[in-house]
Formats: sequence, C-alpha cells, structure tokens
Amino acid sequence: MATPVSELDLPTLDFDPFSREDERREIIAMAQRQSWLAKTELGTMVTRYDDVTSILRDRRWHSALALIAQMQQFDNSEWTERNSNRKSILSTEGPDHTRLRRIVSPAFTPRSADRLRPFMRSVMEDLIDPFIGNGHCEFVAEVCEPYPNPIICELLGAPPENWEMFSRLAVDIFKLFNGNLAEDAPAIMAAQDEMNEYMAQLIVERRAAPQEDLLTDLIAAEDEGDRLDNIELQSMAQAVLLAGTDTTRNQLACAMALFAQHPEQWELLRNQPELAPRAVEEVMRYLGAVRGTVRFASEDIEYNGVLFPQGSLIATSFLGANFDDTQYTEAGAFDISRKADSPHMTFGSGIHFCLGAALARAELQEALLVLSKRMPEVRLNGEIEWKPINVGIWGPEVLPLAWS
Ligand code: HEM
Repeated sequence: MATPVSELDLPTLDFDPFSREDERREIIAMAQRQSWLAKTELGTMVTRYDDVTSILRDRRWHSALALIAQMQQFDNSEWTERNSNRKSILSTEGPDHTRLRRIVSPAFTPRSADRLRPFMRSVMEDLIDPFIGNGHCEFVAEVCEPYPNPIICELLGAPPENWEMFSRLAVDIFKLFNGNLAEDAPAIMAAQDEMNEYMAQLIVERRAAPQEDLLTDLIAAEDEGDRLDNIELQSMAQAVLLAGTDTTRNQLACAMALFAQHPEQWELLRNQPELAPRAVEEVMRYLGAVRGTVRFASEDIEYNGVLFPQGSLIATSFLGANFDDTQYTEAGAFDISRKADSPHMTFGSGIHFCLGAALARAELQEALLVLSKRMPEVRLNGEIEWKPINVGIWGPEVLPLAWS
C-alpha cells in the first residue's frame, strides 16, 4: 500500500536564495543520501538522477506551465480564452503534444542548427570587436544579453531591422515567468498580439517565397499530410522565442563564470578546440542555467511506494541529478574532457526534452570557440553577482571579466 506523499517524513532543503553553489550542492547531496524526495518551501522535490528521469518520462505527470494562471489565482476570461485557442508546445500534453512534436521535430535537427554556425560566429565576433582591445568587459550586458536574439531572428527569418522589435517584445512576453500575471497580463497579451501579427505577415511572405530558415521548414513540415496551421505556426515562433533566448544567454554567462574560475580548463579548450562539444555538455552539467522543472499529477500516481494524489505538484532538481554520484565519476570536478558518464539533465528529459537542444549546443559551442581564441587567460575582474536561485532561468546578473 503506497504512503501518501503528505505523510512522509522527508529531509528539508533549506536554500538561502543567495547561498553559494557549492553549499547548495552539499545540502542536496545530504538530502539525496537520505531519500529520493525532499521538502522545499515550494513543495516536494525529486533529487536523484534516476527518479528525475523516470518522472519526466512518465506521461501522467504534466508540465506545470499549464497551471501558471491557476497557481497565481489569476482568473481572466480573455487570458483563458487565448490560452485555450493558442496551445503552446511547452504546455500541451498527450496526443496534442505528440502531434505538434512529430510535425516540428524534423526542423530542429543538428543539421539545421549547423546551417546557422557561421552566422553565430559572426554575431559573437561583432559583439566583442568593439571592446576586445580593452582587455575587460561586463560580460552579461555586453555579450550574453544581445547574443541570442539575432540568432533566433535569423532562425525564424526576421530581417536585422526587426531585431530591436523582437528584443522589446521578448521582454514583455517573458513577464509570463514573473509570477505577477495580475499586473503583467495586459503587457504580455499586447506583446503577443504584436508578435502574432508580425509572424502572420512573415508567414504570408514565406509561403509565397520559401527561404532557408526555420519558418519555411515549419510551413513545409508535415506528418502524414498533417500540417501546422497559421495560429500554430505563430505559437511555435513564440515558444522558440520564450524557450530559446533567456536560457542560452544565462547558460553562456554560467559557462564564462566557470571558465574564469578554472583557468586550466579554459587553456585546455583554447589548445584543443575539438573539445568544444564536450565542454558545453560539462558546463551544462556543472552549472546549468535551468535548475529544474515542475510537474503536476494529472491523476493519482503511485511511484516508489508513494502516492501522489491528482493535482500534486512535484519539482525535479537538475542540480541534484547533475551531481548524483551514482551517475558521474568525481561529480564535483569540472572537467571538459570528461567522457562516458550519463547525459546531463539541463535539457530536461521525456516528451518535453528541449526541442532546441541542437541549436543551443551549436550557439554555445560557437561562442566558446570564438571567446577562447580571443580572450586568452580569462579571469574575474571583480565579484560575480548571481541572480537569486528561485528564478526559473538562472545565472550571473553581473560578470566582470578581464583577459590578456
Ligand atoms: C542552453 C540553452 C537551453 C536550455 C538550458 C534549455 C532547457 C530546456 C528544458 C529544461 C526544457 C524542458 C522543460 C520541461 O520539461 O519543463 C526545454 C524545452 C524546450 N526548449 Fe529549451 N533550452 C535551451 C535552449 C533552447 C533553444 C535555443 C530553443 C529554441 C529553438 C529551445 C526551445 C525549447 C522548446 C520549444 C521546448 C519545449 C519542448 C516541448 O515541450 O516539447 N530551447 N528547454
């Protein structure tokens, strides 16, 4: 007979949002040794690699993104109507999600990401050219913030004169994650409308004159005669903007913060650029910008002898999974030549596994290749200011770097 989750005596994870990363790792490792579940101020958390994977692969657990409004007790008919008419791949489940994913997946292969590699390199070179001779910069504002937007725009086929507009709309659409829909919903909906209108026009143009870009691929994408309609195409564009910009910029900042503190690894990458793909995987394991994800039980679920009643929320810890010493030899060592361990969890797992993983990998690899060549002996040039750990997508707020 399974024990209801509310009756378990679980270790408590008490994170100070500004605690140090190594302290957090220590706290989570202690909890991992006691139990596969822990209590946090936000609810129950799964801490071990195998259980995080099992739960994310179990289709009875649904993405909590679908509950954003409900969790904030935000009850607004316009919001509800728009979100039921315009389903996002990020929060749909079951056959709707399978259908979307089947149609769009062929447009997100490593080969289509490779198409953009020369563009990625040139964006990075252009960003650093103005200050590289100074030998120092504030890396978040000057490099991470501006890096992903032109790439997402190029991916979607939006011309350079619209990049500014995309950045502006992204800022408002991102308010979705601020936890304050009561205040932010009007700005979010206005930005969504503007973006949808813009994409509708771009879709007309691409239908008339196909190009080498994701939008053209998505328009052409079909699975046994089934295609995305215009509204679905617009939703995909927004999902890509939402999921693909802040993640990449924070992950790049995490990478450089790590390398600045591990000069021998930076030197290794500089001397052996062929290590770039492994370096990205190790950076994402060691200091992932996405710390975990949340699911809710779509029905009563029994797992590992525990009963989770329908509606239970559960957080999965990528930090716990990525440092689980049953999966990684010397999990605490940052080593870009590491091989033969389990894949990191920072792209998630199961049906919502990051659709843009190939693109994100290419963006990070190309960025690190340019930077390791042009910023030798990179080091900290002041204190790193970190975002509080309770934000969904995490990394340095301020990262002062200097190089030789
Ligand atoms: C380093 C950068 C990135 C990280 C760490 C990351 C991480 C993740 C994670 C953890 C998920 C799963 C969320 C969950 O299960 O609740 C996810 C989903 C997703 N990501 Fe990424 N992502 C990154 C970059 C990108 C990029 C560049 C794109 C755009 C092309 C993208 C598009 C998506 C989409 C569309 C989904 C939803 C997939 C689905 O629900 O089926 N991501 N990402």
